[in-house]
Amino acid sequence: MTATEPRPRIEAGREPDVLTYIWNLPNFDKLPGQPEKILDAIDKFNTERNRLINIGPRKGPVIEKIIEEKKPSIMVELGCYVGYSAIRFGNAVRRAGGKKYYSLEINPINASVAKLLVELAGLQDIVTIIVAPSYEGLAKLVHESLIESVEILFVDHVKHRYVLDLWLVEQLGILQPGKSVIIADNISPSNSRGTDYMDWLHASTAEKEATLAQHAFTDDFGGVELAKLIKEKGVKKTGLDLSNVPGTGTYSYETKLHEFEGHSGRTDGVAITNVL
Ligand SMILES: C[S@@+](CC[C@H](N)C(=O)[O-])C[C@H]1O[C@@H](n2cnc3c(N)ncnc32)[C@H](O)[C@@H]1O
Repeated sequence: MTATEPRPRIEAGREPDVLTYIWNLPNFDKLPGQPEKILDAIDKFNTERNRLINIGPRKGPVIEKIIEEKKPSIMVELGCYVGYSAIRFGNAVRRAGGKKYYSLEINPINASVAKLLVELAGLQDIVTIIVAPSYEGLAKLVHESLIESVEILFVDHVKHRYVLDLWLVEQLGILQPGKSVIIADNISPSNSRGTDYMDWLHASTAEKEATLAQHAFTDDFGGVELAKLIKEKGVKKTGLDLSNVPGTGTYSYETKLHEFEGHSGRTDGVAITNVL
């Protein structure tokens, strides 16, 4: 077994300042239960005070349109941050008649800010924030039978985990061919961002097998039915290093890239992938 990936140091940055900003707004009394007004306030904080790294008002509508079309019952997000996307997309899932938006966040300070803002937006029944590294959070969702499958997966946490967590999701068997959609932020092959992720999505079965073989996985996952094992034993007791699970190599994907002009003038993109 390999040691589980070390947790990053937890630090409070500019994120809690959003709470000070919002709670001091002259129109604060008009905000409770108003997701759009809270998103506007976070957008204003972004332009007037300090830059945050949330999905923002340009990319947001592209993803909301997919939610409107797909009408997911359940959507899962990796990377909650201060809850901007959870408020925006949780509200869209609710409008589309869906039941749950699970948001996984490793940093308890960011998660605490997000929980307060989600509550202020009146979305606490639909948005559940799980404070854990993405791979543990995903396993918890499966173990506690909170999800059987994921209709929309929004990947927006940290680049080096995009491929690894997609591989874990494959092993967990929660993608539905012909139905599930994976949305990944900050993919821009022209800037060499997310090329390993795009390579995995576009690889042939033989190329995927070669990638899996090349990858430095040390656990033997051969024949392990991961979802079954996690359901029976729980998240911590599988004896497997969940931060290091290779995928199956058998899924096929079709991806469209939506590119945007980034804040720094560099192109940035959102990859929208249908599971075939
Ligand atoms: C770009 S921000 C997410 C932005 C958010 N989706 C939005 O648009 O409002 C990335 C977040 O992912 C979190 N994160 C980083 N690594 C993670 C991991 N392994 N599991 C869960 N969250 C992680 C960071 O702490 C940070 O809050």
